[in-house]
Amino acid sequence: MNTTLPVSELSGHPTPFYFYDLGLLRRTIATARAEAGDITIHYAVKANYNPVILGEIAAAGLGADCVSGAEVGEAIKAGIPAEAIMFAGVGKTDAEIIQALEAGVGCLNVESVEELQVIAALAAERGLVAPVALRVNPDIDAHTHEYITTGLEENKFGIDMRRLDAAADYVAATPSLSLRGLHFHIGSQITVFEPFDVLCERINGLVAGLEARGIAIDNINVGGGLGIDYDDPDGNPIPPFAAYFAAFRRGLKLRPGQQVHCELGRAIVGQCGSLISRVLYVKEGVGKRFVIADAGMTELIRPALYGAHHLIQNLTSTSARTEVYDVVGPVCESSDCFGTDERLPLTQRGDLLAFRSAGAYGEAMASHYNCRSLAPAVYC
Ligand code: LLP
Repeated sequence: MNTTLPVSELSGHPTPFYFYDLGLLRRTIATARAEAGDITIHYAVKANYNPVILGEIAAAGLGADCVSGAEVGEAIKAGIPAEAIMFAGVGKTDAEIIQALEAGVGCLNVESVEELQVIAALAAERGLVAPVALRVNPDIDAHTHEYITTGLEENKFGIDMRRLDAAADYVAATPSLSLRGLHFHIGSQITVFEPFDVLCERINGLVAGLEARGIAIDNINVGGGLGIDYDDPDGNPIPPFAAYFAAFRRGLKLRPGQQVHCELGRAIVGQCGSLISRVLYVKEGVGKRFVIADAGMTELIRPALYGAHHLIQNLTSTSARTEVYDVVGPVCESSDCFGTDERLPLTQRGDLLAFRSAGAYGEAMASHYNCRSLAPAVYC
């Protein structure tokens, strides 16, 4: 099989497991940092909060974007400085807000005036000033799956552009709040750059509008969303960071001293991870042949949840003959299916399979459904 995975090293481990290529992770981070220039990268912890991965991210000096108090805790434990952490999320609890304030996170990305009021009160009670950024819903179609588009008016995320002035005025008038900047995010797995160009135009207009009202914006957070090549992870192991950052360098009209931030998740960790599984059975169905793997939607839910496709490789078959199979997992759900009509080399019980590009939103979205154990991770 033509693969960049170290097949002989993988064969000795009980399956299923996640395999992480830390060398590729390091090269990916190094490329991202080099192409980012003076744009600050905050890794979106939700994509993968495995402590070894987070340790690599921290060692490389990236900041973090966290969406729960527990993620803030994991990021700090991994060694990411609190001031490099942004705490976001549409439903922060009081306990999480207090935790973030007391830890001294760099900023809380706030999604409504209602939330600003709660943060202001909790900070005032403690004699603190909460650093906040306003998350704006820019109403942009990111041309991605409906479950992972976030910047449209009808989504639950962010402050409506028409309410931004009122939110900024509220911050300015509240002594326990300090406005650090604006935050945006239009969606995930974005593979064309035009939505980022539109985002830049939107940001330029909003910043100019606030400036005209005497409100300066020091930090602009453009969110995450850069997609990866799920069809050809071996051909394109490192995402197109240069083109992504160029879109912001070209599109944003920055004032002196303004700092740009981004929150990449998938682009940083997606390609370094694979889910490795063994074939339990090759079952003859009616007009179909099923490959039943020992990994399923409990280890990688993206196909079942989004209809996503991860490249499937049979790592151990030596057959020159190919066959067409539906590749499914063992979980009691019809949606527990990795692919239909997959052309694979002749596949047999015991063969080792790889579901590629599983580093982002794989292990992080794992579940115990069917009372299954969480799969371990193996690194090289
Ligand atoms: N910033 C915010 C505010 C976000 O909501 C997200 C992702 C990110 C950054 C990171 O986005 P990325 O760079 O990874 O595209 N489970 C889905 C993806 C959900 C994304 C949620 N938000 C999937 O497996 O495709």
